[in-house]
Amino acid sequence: MEAVSAENVDILYESYTAVEGLNFRIEEGETLLLLGPNGAGKTTLLRTIAGFHRNYHGKLLVFGKTPEDARELISYVPQSHSLNGLVPLKAIEVVSMGAIYKKGFFHFRVPEEALSRAREALSFVGLDDVAERLFSELSGGQRQRVLLARALISNPKLLLLDEPLSALDPSARAEVAAVLGKIKREKSVTMIIATHDINPLMEIGNRVMLINRKLIAFGTPEEVLRDEVIKSVYGPLARAIKVESRLYCITGDVHLHLKGEQP
Ligand SMILES: Nc1ncnc2c1ncn2[C@@H]1O[C@H](COP(=O)(O)OP(=O)(O)O)[C@@H](O)[C@H]1O
Ligand SMILES: [Mg+2]
Repeated sequence: MEAVSAENVDILYESYTAVEGLNFRIEEGETLLLLGPNGAGKTTLLRTIAGFHRNYHGKLLVFGKTPEDARELISYVPQSHSLNGLVPLKAIEVVSMGAIYKKGFFHFRVPEEALSRAREALSFVGLDDVAERLFSELSGGQRQRVLLARALISNPKLLLLDEPLSALDPSARAEVAAVLGKIKREKSVTMIIATHDINPLMEIGNRVMLINRKLIAFGTPEEVLRDEVIKSVYGPLARAIKVESRLYCITGDVHLHLKGEQP
């Protein structure tokens, strides 16, 4: 089944067109890496698919419904810096909120059923041991994993992640990328992951979309990550290179890490 389809979609802020003329579709179970420089419209597109931003023209469907009507099927994890001030809650409570908000209630006491699902979700992301610790006191990688657990607890059909690896140090980045790989393997969820650094996610994505205020390229990683395509967005120094059948994308603001790779 088609998970997301866009036909001639323009996304606007008042009368300013932020993203223009999008056409693409992804099938259920696929993982789309949404790539583009700062200001390209990645967050705008994710928020539109999530049903939060409604000022768009064209036809946009999520599992055959408008984004608004598909809200129950979608979990959206915003870019983490917008959550750093999150209230003094324990990790387990943050995760439980993912179940409670979906039902449209807010409880000061988290129902036991939500807590037990939250424990399961924390265990899935490998964080059983931090359940009772304050969210604000966790490391960046742990916080991002808690947010993933929170997004998974409602069993979404579509998971939208905005720059899940940005603002993390390299080891935390690897830790979160590993959890994303586990989600990909073990959950039958369709994912769209916005990123400006595609390299740590290359194994996870089977589709890549490059945008820069409009669609530049969409297809398999091999189809999209070609020199002439990425140079058109990132300039003449950008390159796509292949090392041992693995693709890397050098876009100027991102450095190539080959540490740990066998020559
Ligand atoms: N709330 C807003 N009102 C007006 N313009 C916005 C708003 N949010 C983003 N924009 C503009 O839309 C464009 C795309 O932004 P964004 O989706 O945040 O890009 P990205 O996530 O790829 O960095 C930018 O030009 C940005 O300035
Ligand atoms: Mg963004």
